[in-house]
This record gives sequence, C-alpha cells and structure tokens, in this order.
Amino acid sequence: MDLYEYQARDLFEKYEVPVLPGIIADTPEEAKAAAEKLGGVVVVKAQVKTGGRGKAGGVKVAKTPDEAYEAAKAILGLDIKGHVVKRVMIAGGAQIEKEFYFSVLLDRANRSYLSLCSVEGGMEIEQLAVEKPEALAKVEVDPLTGIDAAKALEIAKAGGFDDELAPKVADVFVKLYNVYTGEGATLVEVNPLILDASGAIIALDGKVSLDDNASEVRHPEHEELEDKDAADPLEAKAKASGLNYVKLDGQVGIIGNGAGLVMSTLDVVAYAGENHGGVKPANFLDIGGGASATVMAAGLDVILGDEQVKSVFVNVFGGITSCVAVAEGIVKALEILGDAATKPLVVRLDGNQVEEGRAILAAANNPLVTLAAGMDEGADKAAELANA
Ligand SMILES: Nc1ncnc2c1ncn2[C@@H]1O[C@H](COP(=O)(O)OP(=O)(O)O)[C@@H](O)[C@H]1O
Ligand SMILES: [Mg+2]
Repeated sequence: MDLYEYQARDLFEKYEVPVLPGIIADTPEEAKAAAEKLGGVVVVKAQVKTGGRGKAGGVKVAKTPDEAYEAAKAILGLDIKGHVVKRVMIAGGAQIEKEFYFSVLLDRANRSYLSLCSVEGGMEIEQLAVEKPEALAKVEVDPLTGIDAAKALEIAKAGGFDDELAPKVADVFVKLYNVYTGEGATLVEVNPLILDASGAIIALDGKVSLDDNASEVRHPEHEELEDKDAADPLEAKAKASGLNYVKLDGQVGIIGNGAGLVMSTLDVVAYAGENHGGVKPANFLDIGGGASATVMAAGLDVILGDEQVKSVFVNVFGGITSCVAVAEGIVKALEILGDAATKPLVVRLDGNQVEEGRAILAAANNPLVTLAAGMDEGADKAAELANA
C-alpha cells in the first residue's frame, strides 16, 4: 500500500525525522483555517499518490490565509496524471538552501535492501538517474545490520555530501531507516530532503510504500491508512468477505478454484469471446479450497453486483473439495441470493465426485444454470450468453 504524503509525514514525525507542521484540508475554507493556525508562509500541496505534483501545479506557496484559500481552490479537483485531487495538505513554508535525495527500498533481485542518495536532489529520481547517473549513489544495505550511524555516514559520503553536512544528514538517514523497518515498508523516499536557511535538515516530501504482508500481521493499525474511498467498491466488498478478487473490464464473470485454474479460465474465456462479439472476462475470483455455499454466495454476490457482467462462468476442479460440495454450494448460493441472482450461470465441474456433483445441479434444475462438459465448451457458452 502506497501512502499519501501527509501519512508519510505523520510516520516520519513518529520516528523523529525532522518535518514541518502539516494540516490536511478538504475544502478551501479548511485550507484557510489551517493557514491561519500555522501562521506565516505556508505551502498548499495536492495529496495524490503520484510524483511530479510540483510541476503539475499541485504545490503552491501562500503568503496569507486568503492566498491559501485561493491555492486550495485551484488545486482541489485538479487532475494530476489521472489522479484527481480531493485533499490538500497545508504545510509550513521552508526556506530552502539546498535540496537532496534519499531513499531506502527493498531490492528483491539481490535479496537485500538498497539505499539511493544524492546531494543533488530536487528533480525526479528517474531524471537524475538518466541525466547524472554518477551523482546518484547506490549503496547496498544488509538487512541484518541495517543503516546504523556508520552505514549512514557511508551512504552520505557516497552521495557526495561534504564533511560538514554528511553527519547531519546521516542522523536523518538512520531515523528514516527506522521508519522503513519499524513500519514494515518496502520504500521510504524523501525528495527533497533539504538544508534550510537556519542550517536544519528537513524532510520536505515523503513517499512510503508499506508491505501488505507486514501490515496484516504486525501492523493491524495500518488498516486505518487505507484509502477506502479510492478502492473499487466491488474489490472492497470482496476483500471484506475475504475473497481473492480482481475487477477487470469485461462481461463474463469468472469463479474458479485455485489461482492457476482461474488464470487459464480468463485466457480461455477471452479466446472464446473472439467468436462472440469480443466479450472478455469481467474479473478474477479464486474461491480457493472449501468452496462452501457461503463462499460461493459471497463470490456470486460480488460478481452479480458488477453491472457490466452479462453471464458467469463457474469453473471448478474438485480435488480435496469434492464436486458434491461445490454443487451444493452453488444451489444454496442461488437460494441465498434469491431474486438478486439474475444472470445466466455456466458451470463446469470436474474431478472428485464429478458425476454426483452434476447430478445435484441437474436435479435442482435452476433455469439460470447451464452445465458444461468441459472448460472450452463452458467458456464458449458463457461468452455466447454474455453476447446475447
Ligand atoms: N513545505 C515546503 N516549503 C517550501 N517549498 C516546498 C515545500 N514543499 C515542497 N516545496 C517545493 O516544491 C517542490 C515539489 O514538492 P514535492 O513535495 O517534492 O512534490 P512532488 O515531488 O510531487 O513534485 C519541492 O522540490 C520544493 O522545492
Ligand atoms: Mg518530491
């Protein structure tokens, strides 16, 4: 999960990384009140999960609360690289002497951490890497020893800091590394880290990505950082039911068991769709082992809630879960959903107790359900129904 700048700022503060005060605002009025509260020059900053806000007009200096009002009015609603601004942060204004770059991230390829650092910050890192690769230090960080004072100094020196500045920024690097490990992050980036007119080092921007695997177990409090409004409503509903669901753009709803089978079902449906008006899979949904009536009902409920869906293809291979359980699951799920189940269902069962499972579905004789003998046939039928 990527965080907004204001959330990163709050985490930085918790780990004693020097930051400026920041207050979030959702309206120009709130922005004005925040500027009054902070006093002096402030900076109004778009809160969107993308970089380059400055260049896109999403960062504006305001000398008075009225200017903050106007700046917020201009920034709220702005589209920055496809992200519409719904919230701004009113931050204290810094007097920037110099801008630097620092980050620490997970380096999967090397099974290690990596720190990037440059005394020449201010521009986007991709640009710096292309235009001045020699100015960007890449220092491997051993996850077992991390960034202690000595390692931080090594990184600062590699990044081109002189003997006077190096110890000052190194102190901040250690604290940023504490954010990285303390919160279970995969990225902590500060661009720019600055030296201000009073000689202080301050993190002026912050980008943090949290590892969802760490959040689930070690950091249940991270759930509060999740932007529930921004998430797709169907995906949010599926997540709440513990389903492994990804919304796609097509018309054929898909339910399968096992990620591999579901992935190949998507392929087969997309292929079959070429003969039926170009219909495509509407989602990925792996109901996993078990496939109880409740899981099946929850899955169908999510898929049928997708207005684009015209038909559903249930493709299950009975292994540990027998086809009897799956068939009973489908029958009960349709009972649970009642009138909410309105779209045709093509069901392909195979594997453990397949004959018994098919018999259950045949006996139930639900007019919405069509039984398919094989995967290709089922995909073709589902695509045909979606195109009807
Ligand atoms: N609080 C602040 N005070 C003064 N200048 C700022 C402040 N925050 C950002 N800036 C200036 O705006 C530029 C862009 O802001 P930043 O937060 O890095 O957004 P982005 O990386 O999305 O463009 C910074 O490089 C800095 O020069
Ligand atoms: Mg930045």
